[in-house]
Amino acid sequence: MTVKAPRAGDLDALETASRDELQAWQLQCLRWTLRHAYDNVPHYRASFDKAGVHPSDLKALADLTKFPFTTKQDLRANYPFGMFAVPRERLARIHASSGTTGKPTVVGYTQQDIDHWAQLVARSIRAAGGRAGDLVHVAYGYGLFTGGLGAHYGAERLGCTVIPMSGGQTEKQVQLINDFKPDIIMVTPSYMQVLIEEFRRQGLDARDSSLKIGIFGAEPWTEAMRRDIEAGAGLDAVDIYGLSEVMGPGVASECIESKDGPVVWEDHFYPEIIDPDTGEVLPDGSEGELVFTSLTKEAMPVIRYRTRDLTRLLPPTARSMRRIGKIVGRSDDMLIIRGVNLFPTQVEELVLQEAGLGGQYQLVVTRDGHLDELLIRCELAVGASDDGIGQRLAERIKNLIGVSASVRVEPNESIERTLVGKARRVVDQRRK
Ligand code: DLL
Repeated sequence: MTVKAPRAGDLDALETASRDELQAWQLQCLRWTLRHAYDNVPHYRASFDKAGVHPSDLKALADLTKFPFTTKQDLRANYPFGMFAVPRERLARIHASSGTTGKPTVVGYTQQDIDHWAQLVARSIRAAGGRAGDLVHVAYGYGLFTGGLGAHYGAERLGCTVIPMSGGQTEKQVQLINDFKPDIIMVTPSYMQVLIEEFRRQGLDARDSSLKIGIFGAEPWTEAMRRDIEAGAGLDAVDIYGLSEVMGPGVASECIESKDGPVVWEDHFYPEIIDPDTGEVLPDGSEGELVFTSLTKEAMPVIRYRTRDLTRLLPPTARSMRRIGKIVGRSDDMLIIRGVNLFPTQVEELVLQEAGLGGQYQLVVTRDGHLDELLIRCELAVGASDDGIGQRLAERIKNLIGVSASVRVEPNESIERTLVGKARRVVDQRRK
């Protein structure tokens, strides 16, 4: 598929700045952010004081390692508005991430923060090959989740026409795609697979639709899934990454011409990779936990926020900013089954090699006495028949990942989804 490559003149100045220019900008922003957080958020004042550091100790970017990390627990402990650095009246908007248990994590934005966010999502859509005038179908959930509104404001900013479809109503999604003929879809990759199946159920072929570009994120997905979606829907699938604590979608996003991992928009977010056990900063290229410090956020600056996402920092290619590799998984989603470490993405690769499966899957872990039992639930593709898929898949999982699992092939649409359209890959019943 041929898609227009971006022209340099279309890019924001810092997207193509030299490394020196970018670092000078980052240092200046980092100084402001540390001072802003220290002066206005009691949590940061207390944590910096406890660690014996002061914003004036940051003389170079490398000095950031002296400052303490921020975790999701810190955000929870300051629920709901304790992490804000501006009076509540200056907030233009609040979002929250659901969290499966307990209180949601609350985040806030000033008008300027919303403006930067829209600019970064517009940049992300443009990196994905989108242009002013394109018709964009947004199927990320609207509401407290950052996906829908984040995508929406960015698409509008780029000058696109937006269809604010939100998640759910699968049949209607397909109808509107057929009738409105959008160029671009923004949705979770697992829900895109559901949509491709829905086309089949309606006797249609998603490859015949008008869609040329899919901008997929909000959950880990593999290269195998990229191939599966590109083949099933006849579009270019690009990866958009983000998290509400840091902003929402558009913290990093992939360029269509390289499709080699999301470019971190380093003019707004300073990335580090750390060893999740020791907290030590690792050199670029090593796998570890991704940590972000915001550079321009007014309402809720975050200092060294631990994302729990595992990946690597990679050298710049299509832009002058560094990239991240595909997220291997969240540290919370890593399972240890009878001594073997396992991420759902490893299972995904194998599930997608079975043509008879629809691509949805879920790992259910239970404990029988002292032994952990792993069940892989997956769904039969529309129109496919089960020719011993379960046993074949179980054997491949045993041989390639090294863990014994039972596989259950279920009818289409058996596996429940979260409200915002993210797949629930792990159900760990041992924790109950
Ligand atoms: O999922 C923001 C978002 C919306 C990103 C739409 C992209 C598109 P949260 O609900 O706070 O925010 O969840 C953030 O989702 O820490 C990752 O674990 C995961 N995640 C997000 N994007 C990707 C991606 C939104 N492209 C959490 N690849 C993050 C892998 C992703 N995981």
